Amino acid sequence: MTKLKTLRSAALAGAAIITTLSFPFAAEAQRRSTSSATPLDEAAVRAKVDALLAQMTPEEKAGQITQYFDFTNTPEESKRVVAEMAAARAGSLLFVNDPVELDRLQHIAVEKTRLKIPLLFGYDVIHGLRTIMPVPIAVAASWDPKVAEAGQTVAAAEARAVGLHWTFAPMLDIARDPRWGRIIEGAGEDPYLGAAMGVAQVRGFQGAYLGSRSHIIAGPKHFVGYGASLGGRDYDEVNLSDSELWNVYLPPFKAAIDAGAGNVMSAYMGLNGTPASGNHWLLTDVLRKDWGFKGFVVSDAGAAHDLLTHEFARDNQDAGVRALNAGMDMEMAPPFGISAFKTLPQSLAEGKVSQTRMDEAVRRVLEAKVRMGLFERPYVDLKEAQRVLNDPAHRIVARNAAERTAVLLRNEGGLLPSAIRNAKSIAVIGPLADSARDTVGPWVFDQKDKETVTVLAGIKAKAARGVRVDFSPGVNIPNRMFKSIFEDGPHPATTRVQVDEATEIDRAVGLANNADVTVMVLGEGWSQDGEQASRSSLDLPGRQQELLAKVIATGKPVVLLLMSARPLDLKDARPQAIMDIWYPGSQGGAAAANLLFGDVSPGGKLPYTWVRNIGQIPTIYSHLTTHQPKTFGERYWNEPSAPTYPFGYGLSYSTFAFSNLRVGKASVAPGEAVPVSVDVKNTGSRKADEVAQLYIHQRYGTAARPVRELKGFERVTLAPGETRTVQFTLSPKDLTYWASSTKSFVQDETTFDVYAGNDSTAALAATFEVRKP
Ligand code: NOJ
Repeated sequence: MTKLKTLRSAALAGAAIITTLSFPFAAEAQRRSTSSATPLDEAAVRAKVDALLAQMTPEEKAGQITQYFDFTNTPEESKRVVAEMAAARAGSLLFVNDPVELDRLQHIAVEKTRLKIPLLFGYDVIHGLRTIMPVPIAVAASWDPKVAEAGQTVAAAEARAVGLHWTFAPMLDIARDPRWGRIIEGAGEDPYLGAAMGVAQVRGFQGAYLGSRSHIIAGPKHFVGYGASLGGRDYDEVNLSDSELWNVYLPPFKAAIDAGAGNVMSAYMGLNGTPASGNHWLLTDVLRKDWGFKGFVVSDAGAAHDLLTHEFARDNQDAGVRALNAGMDMEMAPPFGISAFKTLPQSLAEGKVSQTRMDEAVRRVLEAKVRMGLFERPYVDLKEAQRVLNDPAHRIVARNAAERTAVLLRNEGGLLPSAIRNAKSIAVIGPLADSARDTVGPWVFDQKDKETVTVLAGIKAKAARGVRVDFSPGVNIPNRMFKSIFEDGPHPATTRVQVDEATEIDRAVGLANNADVTVMVLGEGWSQDGEQASRSSLDLPGRQQELLAKVIATGKPVVLLLMSARPLDLKDARPQAIMDIWYPGSQGGAAAANLLFGDVSPGGKLPYTWVRNIGQIPTIYSHLTTHQPKTFGERYWNEPSAPTYPFGYGLSYSTFAFSNLRVGKASVAPGEAVPVSVDVKNTGSRKADEVAQLYIHQRYGTAARPVRELKGFERVTLAPGETRTVQFTLSPKDLTYWASSTKSFVQDETTFDVYAGNDSTAALAATFEVRKP
């Protein structure tokens, strides 16, 4: 293990925290990221780009800022794409991930086009390319930015090795409505956690600087507000107050941009009535003028043309004009539709867009290509690609990540891990227990099922000789009523093997009856979370609830592993132990086994409030105090309004005590930092992790502020009896917020409460004042 000093700046959302970190392969990651020369000289980049720009025709410029899909799934499609790029009508392609094909296409671009400008290849490397990490919401549940950084370092290395240069990630959309399927791609409900995870991912993808060898460009998305779609329905309109926008939805993006992200993707939906992809205020005033973003903005797929769909633009040409003028630099053209940027030469001739704006967009794209070293090293080393894709070290990063992302929600009587460790027979039950495709979750296209360790395989590999492991899927994961693009599009899904539920449920119950302990793996199928995977229910799909109830009714101990990315509503089912393993990735089953058998203690924490049922949505921990606060828990007459589990919650195989919360200064002046520390003691009998969480509450001021806001966290590993003092610094930024009444950021003279503990209900409290001297 190597120690790595990492500076984590959560920028607008939080304090700068310097922590000593250790994680596997830090040294390797560091070596890779610094192995290329230092960043290119700015003047040299500019000169190279100027020289190219001076030679380009309007058509070549429009092509340079157009990105085409290439699904390489039909010969006609491939032919069309090759013809477009050979004619320099595409500066970038997406959706090819085969190194041979990427190399072939690059040879055409470099050898056959007039100006020999290489293509920039983009891809959705969301949580791994070949080695699949847990899904992003799971990584957020680790409350450990090192997990995010290490995972995306591996993802970047694999992507770069096959010839990719750019990922459409991290997704930084705050999601407070678990009906929205894409909650899986982000860090959940909180901007501070979201910013920290976003920054770590940018660092993992890009390395020390844009152009670091073995790294790729990060593209935070979807700018901005996509997670707040009406009713949780994907792509629906978004209406956000400016307080929510500035205090909640924008901060993760600001942090990622401060961390040097080279690209930003504009969102599909309308924000307060103006499509985000045609929104000058967002793409230029905020992103460029206010935040100083230097990279390039790409549209979401077809989002430029969509300005027409939104009934915002008059026609396709107008859509191109409005998008470019708003600040979009590259159009990700619709997969099977019409590109809007194709019409830009005509708009230039008609004076609808300026030469300056057009050149600015082209310049930003060319700069990215120069910085990424594409002119020097455009091609793929095919042997090296295979070596990197098969690097066993990557699998260890994936397993470590999956171990650190699991959240133990319930463990009655300390069932885990001893019940598993001591069992002579284990029944493994559930449709997701041995499904490799489901174990890796959505947004993967290059994983190999045979390389994925399912929970069943993990348990079998781990169980001692002589321990009987029986398996039954029990029931089926039902099909969606409406298929998504991922099931029905150019990458059709593998068909599920269906069991006869009439007999399989009985068989499963029989196995549970005959086993010392049962591990059930239930949840949602991989295509039931993600894009186009919004859902109007939080129930277990199909007959899983019935299966769960029948297995619990055996009276034997039951451990439920949940595989999904939503807070599922388990009704009145009470298995003795529940652990959320999310979609844990290609080493997920190995990690689950290590957790179940107690080699590792779970230490993950919920990145969202676990609502009791669908009717409670949205429920967030950081709400405001309102009229009759005493009745806050009784706002529905039929049931408590408290959630099942609060934000930040998660158990361990050990126990911890928090004490001695100290605020370094009883009173500070505006602009001064406040040191805070708290002692965390492992009061149990085994080594385990705990996450120290710091929350603040402003008592009064220019605006009403949330009852609690996360402003610091640190995951620590403690030996039995060990006490660690965790230090935090509340920066002036942490105490500053956007007030809608003044339309500005303010820091009030006021009193703050500080809370520390292991979830958002932490009881340990202290106060400090902010006063002008
Ligand atoms: C649409 C999605 O919204 C976006 O996140 C993704 O990167 C693009 N499609 C490309 O696949």
